[in-house]
Amino acid sequence: MTNTIGNKIIVITGASSGLGAEAARYLAELGATVVLGARRTERIKALAEGIEAKGGKALAVETDVTDRASVQNLVDTAVKTYGRIDVLLNNAGVMPLSPLEKLRVDEWDLMIDVNIKGVLYGIAAALPHMKARKSGHIINVSSVAGHRVLENSAVYSATKFAVRALSEGLRAEVKPYNLRTTVISPGAVQSELLDGIHDEATAEQLRSFVPGIAISADSFARCVAFAINQPEEVDINEILFRPTKQPV
Ligand SMILES: NC(=O)c1ccc[n+]([C@@H]2O[C@H](COP(=O)([O-])OP(=O)(O)OC[C@H]3O[C@@H](n4cnc5c(N)ncnc54)[C@H](OP(=O)(O)O)[C@@H]3O)[C@@H](O)[C@H]2O)c1
Repeated sequence: MTNTIGNKIIVITGASSGLGAEAARYLAELGATVVLGARRTERIKALAEGIEAKGGKALAVETDVTDRASVQNLVDTAVKTYGRIDVLLNNAGVMPLSPLEKLRVDEWDLMIDVNIKGVLYGIAAALPHMKARKSGHIINVSSVAGHRVLENSAVYSATKFAVRALSEGLRAEVKPYNLRTTVISPGAVQSELLDGIHDEATAEQLRSFVPGIAISADSFARCVAFAINQPEEVDINEILFRPTKQPV
């Protein structure tokens, strides 16, 4: 299979850890130029330096996806520096799970701000550039939780269902501009996501089984690469994957 990733400019949100960081490493190894966005600048700078030390191309841009101007700056910096954006990987996300009755409303707001509005701000920033060139690919990250709802995950699931709805709507609208849209829904993958659960009972419950079944983040990186590395006329719409051991 030909490698169409090699000459691509790929912007990744949430590149400071977990799935985003691994995707950045893998895509850079395949020759892509990666533009890394996250709030923890020391992490993305170290990642960019590590990629460059291996002969890859990477740029770190401090980004808070809850701030529209910050996401615009991430995409505009990529375009100013490299002339274009070929792929946006809308990956940043948070998952502070809890039962609704605990009324952790600030965490509901955070999930909506990062997981839904953050994705929308990414689309708002990238779409005009891609539309103008009639070329581009937007990849949004949903979850198995975007396909089914379990206890303690109502709000998180709602945000990930929303990501799928937005991806579907986007796909229906961007056909005239020759743009590709993919939604990737991972199951349990090793990352720092569980660290963001502050409801003790929920955290304990998840820590009792998730680390035992979670698969390495390179599983996600390979899915991203598969979607990107298709001929321009092939639009991989959805990828849903989970550990072989994960029952639901
Ligand atoms: N791991 C799984 O099992 C799994 C399963 C299904 C879906 N997902 C999805 O995969 C995506 C990546 O998560 P992960 O598992 O890799 O978790 P992670 O290790 O906690 O990484 C989350 C990333 O999101 C970034 N982020 C959070 N808030 C942000 C903000 N306001 N602005 C910019 N970046 C922000 C974090 O960067 P900073 O904190 O440095 O800003 C970090 O880079 C998420 O959308 C998650 O919902 C993960």
